[in-house]
Amino acid sequence: MSEVPQNAAQKTFYLETFGCQMNVHDSEKVVGTLVQEGYRQVETVEQADLVLYNTCSIRDKAEQKVFNRLADYKKYKKQGKTFGVLGCVAQQEGEKIFERAPYVSLVCGSASYRNLPNMLIQIEAGKQRVTGLDDRETDECFETEFTARTNPHRGYITIIEGCDKFCAYCVVPYTRGKERSRTSDSVLAEARQMADLGYTEIQLLGQNVNSYKDPEGKPGARKTFAELLAAVGEIPGIRRVRFTTSHPRDFGRDIVEAIDAVPTLCDHVHLPVQSGSTRVLDAMQRLYTREQYLERIAWMKAAKREISITTDVIVGFPGETEFDFAATLNLLEEVGFDAVFAFKYSPRPNTPSLRMEDAIPDDEKARRLEVLMAKQREIQTIRYKKYIGTRCEVMVEAKNEARAQWVGRTSHNKTLNFTAASKPRLGSYAAVNVTGSFPNSLLGELVV
Ligand code: 5AD
Ligand code: SF4
Repeated sequence: MSEVPQNAAQKTFYLETFGCQMNVHDSEKVVGTLVQEGYRQVETVEQADLVLYNTCSIRDKAEQKVFNRLADYKKYKKQGKTFGVLGCVAQQEGEKIFERAPYVSLVCGSASYRNLPNMLIQIEAGKQRVTGLDDRETDECFETEFTARTNPHRGYITIIEGCDKFCAYCVVPYTRGKERSRTSDSVLAEARQMADLGYTEIQLLGQNVNSYKDPEGKPGARKTFAELLAAVGEIPGIRRVRFTTSHPRDFGRDIVEAIDAVPTLCDHVHLPVQSGSTRVLDAMQRLYTREQYLERIAWMKAAKREISITTDVIVGFPGETEFDFAATLNLLEEVGFDAVFAFKYSPRPNTPSLRMEDAIPDDEKARRLEVLMAKQREIQTIRYKKYIGTRCEVMVEAKNEARAQWVGRTSHNKTLNFTAASKPRLGSYAAVNVTGSFPNSLLGELVV
């Protein structure tokens, strides 16, 4: 991992990551930056001089995780370890973290990671409390040439940070700041560099990739998101390109056209709907109606390749009636999603919905969540069964030793566990005959 030679006196750090893919990728950049600063990454808190948590605050449960961790490790502070909180909880709670967990020395939001080396110098010089909160003035993305990617075959590239949509329930605009796109030239340069290093799959990341706006170049030459997607897909050596997350308001037909035109673009779109009721969508400030969402689904269903569609749903938003909830269930039937990530509404600091009336009691939220997941399980059972008897190409991702199976991922983003007479190489692409199905995965045999 580190190119810096190891020695006993070398400073060590432990980093644990919570939350979304943006956070996972931020952590890869933080690791690269720290290694460049002479630190060595270790696997346990016990071994580390510096203990960092990259945190998520999307729901209350996610936020509590970091405080539980910090409480667990309080005893280590006496041993001289330094604790730091990074990411969305850091940005949201700011200096309040020092009050709640006085043994924390570093609080740094994602918009300030550029300043991390400087902050570490201050800590090493003995400063007790260092903060990096909100660096929106510089209006830049956190990019570093030292990204320490954890997987040698597929990797993330950030194309846009922040979010300007301000959905009524969401902390992201407050924790990650306003939208900043990277130039298409720098995205493509990084993608080419990754292809040269042997990466074959690239996932373009952003809170809302569809509102990507190329900040440089002559107006006519600036790439739209769909053009950028296609350009990454045309880089020699790249076999799969994915992107997440999309917002239905900004999701254009040109993306479906790009998927049709460029075979390396994966036939999978994650398009969060949140609710099937236009009334609730309006209260959520989602800026689209049920009908407009279904129009986008119709574009995808008319594509030349079958596009797998997945979504996010929130149940129990304030004021959500039985009738609204039934509309969401009905939408699941109508679309036929390949996966649904469903959540109970969680009131978040700073968000407009925090003060909305007609809160849904927690047990009712839990009931709706259960009903929704049972319905989606039925839908997926039928959808996954259809693959039996077909042949899929997978990227070989891991071996499950306990089950003596290999784990692959299809272009549709489905997990396909398979047996193989000869040992496939991790990161290679293989043809697999599908022989069985479950609601969340497929089963198969490697084609010899
Ligand atoms: N409560 C519950 N779920 C939320 N999400 C975002 N904010 C909240 C909240 N306050 C969900 C949305 C989003 C996903 C990443 O998390 O479904 O798409
Ligand atoms: Fe969590 Fe949202 Fe921050 Fe990702 S951007 S870590 S989902 S709060």
